[in-house]
Amino acid sequence: MNADVIGMLAKRRTIRRYTDERVPEETIAALLEAAFYAPSYLNRRPAHFLVVEDKEVQQRLGAILSVRPYVQQASAVIVLLADPELSPVWPADLAAAAENILIAASALGLGAAWVGNPFGAAWEMREAEIRELLGIPDHIRTLGLITVGHPADHPEPHTKASSWDSLRVHYGSFAGFRPEWANLNAGKPPQ
Ligand SMILES: Cc1cc2nc3c(=O)[nH]c(=O)nc-3n(C[C@H](O)[C@H](O)[C@H](O)COP(=O)(O)O)c2cc1C
Repeated sequence: MNADVIGMLAKRRTIRRYTDERVPEETIAALLEAAFYAPSYLNRRPAHFLVVEDKEVQQRLGAILSVRPYVQQASAVIVLLADPELSPVWPADLAAAAENILIAASALGLGAAWVGNPFGAAWEMREAEIRELLGIPDHIRTLGLITVGHPADHPEPHTKASSWDSLRVHYGSFAGFRPEWANLNAGKPPQ
């Protein structure tokens, strides 16, 4: 096991405040490269990514998603899009790509936040507004967006104690558990 990779995943936190420093174009391209390395159902690769670097458009996106002010503050926004004709499980495909972007952003010292509640109330209405704002064809769906910027907040990394949940780890059957794994959170003994 490469402990560096696990440590890097622990450091990834949602960042909702950014400095004014611009994220360079090549760094945004690197995040998209990471996204394209994500797995997808039958390798159908239904994802599209729409990059927005325009404060006025970002402000309108934040308003549509009822998320302010950090959508506007971000240096860039990556709208997560998919062609559902290519994959019946496009939300899963897009989620894998989104996580790659978040991990890559964190590893590059950037802050990022995944924004969107695609199964929530009024999502289709919000989607329609986003389509109209960004000239997206009617058949293309969105899962939301990722804001990217230089972090103005530096939250603590996740720890095993705060994250590992023995009650959510089953072994062999749903009722089974592995004693060696029960105390990995060192603070939350199994109940
Ligand atoms: C599908 C999904 C949708 C999310 N939507 C939002 C959102 O609309 N606004 C927001 O501020 N954070 C959003 N988040 C970020 C979560 O709030 C965040 O991941 C969670 O609080 C855990 O914090 P962490 O990312 O720092 O570990 C979303 C995360 C996921 C996976």
